[in-house]
Amino acid sequence: MNEPQPILVANFKAHKSWDEISAWIEQVAPKCNEFAGTVILCPSAPFLAAAHAKLQTLNSKLQLGAQDISKFEEGPYTGEISASQLKRICQYAIVGHSERRKYFAEGDGDVIQKVDLLLKNEITPILCVSDLKQLDSYVKEGKTIYDNAEKIIFVYEPPSAISKDRDYRPEDPQVADQNAAEISRIFNQNVVTLYGGSINPENIKAFLSKENIAGGLVGQACLDADTFLQLISKSA
Ligand code: 13P
Repeated sequence: MNEPQPILVANFKAHKSWDEISAWIEQVAPKCNEFAGTVILCPSAPFLAAAHAKLQTLNSKLQLGAQDISKFEEGPYTGEISASQLKRICQYAIVGHSERRKYFAEGDGDVIQKVDLLLKNEITPILCVSDLKQLDSYVKEGKTIYDNAEKIIFVYEPPSAISKDRDYRPEDPQVADQNAAEISRIFNQNVVTLYGGSINPENIKAFLSKENIAGGLVGQACLDADTFLQLISKSA
């Protein structure tokens, strides 16, 4: 994993029009060029191509990621977006987010298929782990994940810590750090693990100061560009 750390991932979820995304990029991109770490923006799928073109024009270090991909290769799967279609547009993709599991009934098997396709297409998976039990099947059935753990960005993101209506409820940084360490122990090597859940400018330092936490996956606090710029400053 060669990404400079800390790694900050802005997950817009199903928020923002193209005009709003474009304005956010104009505000945040210059700061990313001064930042020693890595910033990855994950907008909704329809805007990835336009965001990619805009970032090229701006010559920005800001990276791009998808919020999900299809578990199938390119083919007759209406509504899906395959990893091979995204290959030239973004370098990262979030998979296994707890909201995909909760609202779209995704399971460990789906996640394993997606990680496999991402790796085949040279897109770095940002693999969310909402419960460490999920790792059992990744170790037993998902040889792809076990054997390629060094090519994956893991995220420890307990669903109970995800903000609700701007109500921040973060995990205790000490507990997050222990869980991140446990992920490395399970994969038998020092893997890159981020923390996600109610990160904001007030608490980001407490997470980044932990030995096993390489960055953050941010939802609510990335939507407002000024707040996200504060997050970047506090992570420097
Ligand atoms: P919040 O930062 O809003 O808690 O969301 C976390 C998350 O789900 C990021 O993917």
